Amino acid sequence: MKKITFPENFIWGIGNGAYQSEGAWNEDGKGESIWDRYGHIPGNVWNGENGDVTTDFYHRYKEDIALLASLGIRHFRMSIAWTRILPDGRGAVNPKGIAFYHNVFAELEKYGIEPMVTLYMWDLPQKLQDAGGWANRETADCFAQYARILFQEYGKEVSTWVTFDEPFCCAFIGNYLGTYAPGLRDFSTALQASYHMLLAHGKAARACHEMLPGAKIGIALNLSDCKPATARPEDAGAARRADGYRNRWFLDPLYKGYFPEDMLRLYREKGVALPEIREEDLEIMSERQDFLGLNYYSPHFFVSDEKNWPVGAASVKVGHPVNDIGWEIVPEALGNILRRVKEDYGDIEIQITENGSCQTDLVNREHRVVDDGRIDYMHRHLAVLREAIGSGVRVTAYYAFCFTDNVEWALGFSKRFGLVYVDFGTQERIVKDSGRWYAGVAAENGFETAL
Ligand code: BGC
Repeated sequence: MKKITFPENFIWGIGNGAYQSEGAWNEDGKGESIWDRYGHIPGNVWNGENGDVTTDFYHRYKEDIALLASLGIRHFRMSIAWTRILPDGRGAVNPKGIAFYHNVFAELEKYGIEPMVTLYMWDLPQKLQDAGGWANRETADCFAQYARILFQEYGKEVSTWVTFDEPFCCAFIGNYLGTYAPGLRDFSTALQASYHMLLAHGKAARACHEMLPGAKIGIALNLSDCKPATARPEDAGAARRADGYRNRWFLDPLYKGYFPEDMLRLYREKGVALPEIREEDLEIMSERQDFLGLNYYSPHFFVSDEKNWPVGAASVKVGHPVNDIGWEIVPEALGNILRRVKEDYGDIEIQITENGSCQTDLVNREHRVVDDGRIDYMHRHLAVLREAIGSGVRVTAYYAFCFTDNVEWALGFSKRFGLVYVDFGTQERIVKDSGRWYAGVAAENGFETAL
């Protein structure tokens, strides 16, 4: 056994998201979000489930924060529900929504837990969707307004902000594949949406730099290590296109101030309506980021597949072990992404904003959840992360995802990622073995390994 130790002051955190954990979907003046709407339409979410109640964090935040503190965790990533602050997405502010997050921050402060606050974790106000959603340029201005309200209101309590969580998923899964809210199926709309999310991100980052010069702000991207599934040259081309679609489409405007030329050409050739790219927008999108948030779960392997319009790439499995959501477990891929970001985008600060695994958890005869698969997943990924840091990639934080089991979007409660088990019938919480293991890692700033 050897001990893996992380650099001094490395941040160990855990995250959750508003829609996934808060519940109280229409309480105290909260407006309807696109996930409320989507989850209420039969057939959209597994087993007719939704986020109406979920873990009831809205009413149980005190107990949950005490539990987090008992694990010795001092960093909590959470998101704010836009519709609690601005029920219609713009216009009148809801004082009860404002008060709720002040209460949460005060509770965290009691235990010396620092919040990292995400402004947008997929829950666009439905009223803004009715006006065209992210495909409408005005939504970016509404977001900037909303961001300013948060910076003004919570600037003293929060010093680390994340604009968007996984804009790729929000834009493309929500507006092209249709299996996330708002459930649309149009590639051009999705492309527009991604453009306006990047613009909204830049506007919010600017506002943050102006209003809170001591704070840090970044975006959380779910970057994919896109590899060809075979040695065939056409699959290498497919992997490159998939990388353009999922990664470079976001990284290039953020860090280089342009959209990838090969993707613009491909989309044009395939008849996609491109967003009108304005010089001044690119400048805003590439506003300085204080760190890049990286959500990592699994890599993707591609074969060329022309039927898969317009990118022409299909993701396939290549035989790695899979977890209980069917995602291949390849810890080295995390290292590949980290080194690649450094090579292509420079020596930037990176914070791992999400990493974790879905397991079929059972409460056993001793009332314990023995989730060794999850421990193994985190253990191996953390070992790879430490190696990447050793080779010079500047990673300062790791936020496990997630704190409590919660509603896994369109998969409802069928998939669990938490370090704390939740019985959704009784709302009982049970710290899983992984929660205890992770608490030890945070306390020791590392762990023993036989790897
Ligand atoms: C999201 C989380 C989600 C997790 C597992 C990410 O896509 O940010 O909200 O629960 O992955 O699917």
